[in-house]
Parts: sequence; structure tokens; C-alpha cells
Amino acid sequence: MEKAEDLNFIYRNPNEPIEARVKDLLSRMTLKEKVGQMTQIERRVATPSAMKDFSIGSILSAGGSGPFENALSADWADMVDGFQRSALETRLQIPMVYGIDAVHGNNNVYGATIFPHNVGLGATRDADLAERIGVATALEVRASGIQYTFAPCVAVCRDPRWGRCYESYSEDTEIVRKMTSIISGLQGKPPQGHEKGYPFIMGRNNTIACAKHFVGDGGTHKGLNEGNTISSYDDLERIHMAPYLDCLSQGVSTVMASFSSWNGSKLHADRFLLTEVLKDKLGFKGFVISDWAALDKLCDPPGSNNRFCILSAINAGIDMVMVPFKFEQFVEDLVYLVEHGEIPMSRIDDAVERILRVKFVAGLFEHPFADRSLLDIVGCKPHRDLAREAVRKSMVLLKNGKDPRKPFLPLDRKAKRILVAGTHADDLGYQCGGWTATWDGKSGRITIGTTILEAIKKAVGDETEIIYEQYPSTDTLARQDISFAIVAVGEDPYAEFTGDRSELVIPFNGPDIISSVADRIPTLVILISGRPLTLEPSLLEKMDALVAAWLPGSEGEGMTDVIFGDYDFEGKLPVTWFKSFEQLPLNVESNSYDPLYPFGFGLTCNKKKAIQ
Ligand code: GLC
Repeated sequence: MEKAEDLNFIYRNPNEPIEARVKDLLSRMTLKEKVGQMTQIERRVATPSAMKDFSIGSILSAGGSGPFENALSADWADMVDGFQRSALETRLQIPMVYGIDAVHGNNNVYGATIFPHNVGLGATRDADLAERIGVATALEVRASGIQYTFAPCVAVCRDPRWGRCYESYSEDTEIVRKMTSIISGLQGKPPQGHEKGYPFIMGRNNTIACAKHFVGDGGTHKGLNEGNTISSYDDLERIHMAPYLDCLSQGVSTVMASFSSWNGSKLHADRFLLTEVLKDKLGFKGFVISDWAALDKLCDPPGSNNRFCILSAINAGIDMVMVPFKFEQFVEDLVYLVEHGEIPMSRIDDAVERILRVKFVAGLFEHPFADRSLLDIVGCKPHRDLAREAVRKSMVLLKNGKDPRKPFLPLDRKAKRILVAGTHADDLGYQCGGWTATWDGKSGRITIGTTILEAIKKAVGDETEIIYEQYPSTDTLARQDISFAIVAVGEDPYAEFTGDRSELVIPFNGPDIISSVADRIPTLVILISGRPLTLEPSLLEKMDALVAAWLPGSEGEGMTDVIFGDYDFEGKLPVTWFKSFEQLPLNVESNSYDPLYPFGFGLTCNKKKAIQ
């Protein structure tokens, strides 16, 4: 067969209208080539022969799946370009699109700027900040050769027992709607008059974005990950679907279906929501991608009837399938289902048109390879300063002084002697949380960044002595010459189901560390967590001050900027802080709303205004 560059094909001509290019290319494709475009595989099975024999349209990195440990952006770009060369050796030379979870910076890549996770950004309520973070993230993602990020998560988390609450900007739909502005940063801001629902990507410094997980992922019963959201359609639309309208108006190019169910109907097989609502009613013209091996879960037991699962999902409106490993079987089954009339060719054509549309809009045919001129931008100072600003603005001051008339913060940076303690005072991995370096995160020096301890050392005067002990000794605690203590405790990193909890306490004996120190020394507690945790009154009263820092990421100095008073606190709770676990779920509109700290609460050092 002819190779595309041999003839003057319309789809090869960037001066032709996008829709003409889509139609022309689609008309030249075989069924197997169409099915290949609908197939996304994990990098570990993306061999050159797989790419060529199956015309694979997309590859992804699972969380942490990269060329090798601590690989730099240039190593990633080499890897991605290698896959692209294989894709371009196919008959029609359709470029592949590479996807990754860059959900708080390009968090899989060593040395990338790690921004606060979404719950912290929700505490800022700063749409402009979110957009600027999107711009910076897109640059660092493109520097690694990757063109597509599975972000933002626009879940509205209604129950902190959910292991993904930190990926949600807020329990409040309006805050989530506001923070979708990150899409305009990632993809570029569409011009006035841009068609709502039509994908928009400005250029080579932007990424394809992905609003996820459609729809109701944050509203499952008891916060069970991949669970069941039980609600009227009106509530589903009002609480969980509203942010998607903002995503579509910004030209979001892809939407990821949720693992969860709505009133018992699995989203991945729900034609009403995926097609009649998202595509037909809301006018979405990008592509809908499945979640990881989500089709397998449409059968019971999972994977027991592949053809039924594929039939259900594709006919419901899934366009691209994140297989991610058993792609030979997937392609064979999908081709079989089309050839036997169980899936109409019109459905396949609709899916492939959407995928090609995004690839043309993203300019992948003209610029399929990494732009190496971007490499210096990874982890650059302007990006780290932006992350530091985000950290600062996300800090929520919950308590300031045992006597409100005697505020404890800001701390004296010229104090004679400071004790720094706790499991999270000097652990970059802990302060970054899940989806960093690996899928579910890990402790230690996982990338380049500044821990709380390091930030304190930079912030204080030369005369100040800092004593650092994770678990302070009795001798240290017996000293009478320590001005004050800073105790940083919190959660270990987690992702998805590994974060689901049936109790929400501070791990690693955090309360004991706090008590041992605060019983003897004036103490500021910094809580590193993806969500509110139980704070017993007896523990709370021992603290002189308490800051919710969420999962701040690599730039620890954003925390000291406020605790030492260079800036005032401005963060406000994006989620309700429950008084007792038994209250859950507890949201602003709950009937008996009696939280420890209400949604919107946040103190400042200088003003007494406690709630937004
Ligand atoms: C995961 C997550 C989804 C992520 C995808 C690829 O299971 O649910 O948010 O984008 O797989 O890593």
C-alpha cells in the first residue's frame, strides 16, 4: 500500500481544516487501524512490533513507570521519541499520543517541580494560580516528550474516607468549578467564541488535558473507592457534573470515565451518561478514555467475559481504551465484535474521529517529537517560586494561641533555640504524597526539593540553634532553654484504594509525638495530610498553634513563609473538618452540621477574620 508521504493526502496538509483532515484520514483506515487508534497500552508492552503490527494509537506510563529510577526529562524524551518513531513507521504514519498522570507537576520525573496536591490548591480558591500552575506543568510535561496528562481530577470529594480526596479541590462544587482554570493553563486558553466542547490546544508548549473521573467519583457511598454514588440525577448534575461544563467551555480535549457507579450502573457501561449526556447534551467533541483496565471490571468476576465487557463499554461511548497490557486480545475481540455487527462501524468511526481530532488539534502530525529546547525549564526557579507561592497560599491556620488574645504565630526567626520534631519534618516523599516518583508515593529524598526542616534552617537567623529529633528524647524534652517547638506529623503517601480508610487518625503515633513535646514546650503543629484527620480535644488544647499543610509538594519554604510571618495566612478550608469520625459524611449542607472547623474556616495572623 502507498506510504502517506508518497502522495499529497489531505490529512497530511496542515493548511487543511481539521475536520477535513479527520474525514480524509478516517476514509483511508482499515478496521484494524481504527481499532489500533482506540487502543492505549502501557509502555512496558509497547515494543516496536506491537506499535507497527497493531497501529497502536496511544501509550501511557502507569504511576512511576519510566525509563529507569530517577530518570531525567531528557531520558523520558528519548524513550517517548523512540515509541513515536515506531508509530510513524505505520502505513498511514499516524503519530501516537503519550499519556501520564502529571497531576501536581510532572510528578513522575526526577527533578520536576512538585506542586501542592489539589486539596491544597482548593484552600487557595485562586483560579489564576491554578492556571499558572497548568502553564508550568504543561511545559515540564512537554520537556519530557509527553503530550497528554490525565489531569485535572475534578472530583467533588464528599467523604474523607475516600483514598483520593487529596486529588479533589474541594467538597464544594463551586470551588472545583473555579479551579478547572488549570485546563486553560495546561492546554492554553481558547479564543472568544471557541465552540464549547470542541478540543483546544494552543501549541507545542501545551498538553492535552483530561477531566476525570466522569462522573460522581467523589460521591460514592462511605467514600469507597470505585464504589457506588447513590443520588438523584439532579444531585449528580448539581454536585458532580457541574465542573465538567467548565472543562468543556475551556476546550478540554479528553474526559476519563470513572471506575465508580451511579445508582448501581457502572459509568464505563452507562450510555446515558457517557453518550446522551456528555456527548449529545453537553456537546463534548473530544474523546472519552477508559480508566486503567476498567473494562475488565464490567464483568463479574473481572475479565471473565472480555467480549461482553468491550461491547458494553464501546457501545456506551468509551472511545479510547486504557487496556493496558493484554492489547492483542482486546484488538482481536473488538474487531470480532464489529465484524459480527455487535458494535456498529458508526460507533468505531465516531471514536476514531474524536481521537484523530485531538491529535490534529494538538499538532502531533506536524510536531510528533519532543522539543529539547524545553529541557532547561524542568524544575527551574520560576516554577519552584510558583510552587512556593501555591504552598504559602494553601496553608490553613486552624489555631493560633491558647489564648486568642496572645497569638502564637508568627514565630520569632531570631529565637535562641528551636526544636524541630516529627515524622514529617524532614521527609520530602511524605510532603509530596501519592502520585510522586511512584504510583502511591514513598518516604525519603525522592526528588529535588526542600523539606520543612531545611526550610526552617533557611528561615532562621545565624544565632538560632535548631535541634532536630523525629522522636525527641526525654533529655531534650527536659531542657528549659528551648524557645518553641515545631512538630510536623501526618499521613504516609497513598493512592486510590490504598488510601481508603475506616478510621482517620494521625499515623506513626503522631498524637504521642505532639503530646510529648507540647506538654513541655510551646508548640506549633504542622499537619501533612491529604484530608482532615481526627483531632481529640485533649490533644488540640495542648497545641499552641496548628496549621493544615495538606500535601504541599517540593517547595517547603512556602510553609515557613507564613509561619515566620513573611506573609500572612490566606488559606481557607476547602473541606469540612469533622469533630468525630462517626459524623461522616459531613458536608456544609448536612442537616446537623457540627464540625470541629467548618468549611471555609481559616485564621490569619494579623486580622481576626476567621471565616470566609
Ligand atoms: C488509575 C486512576 C486514574 C489514572 C489512571 C492511569 O487507576 O484511576 O486516575 O489516570 O489509572 O494511571
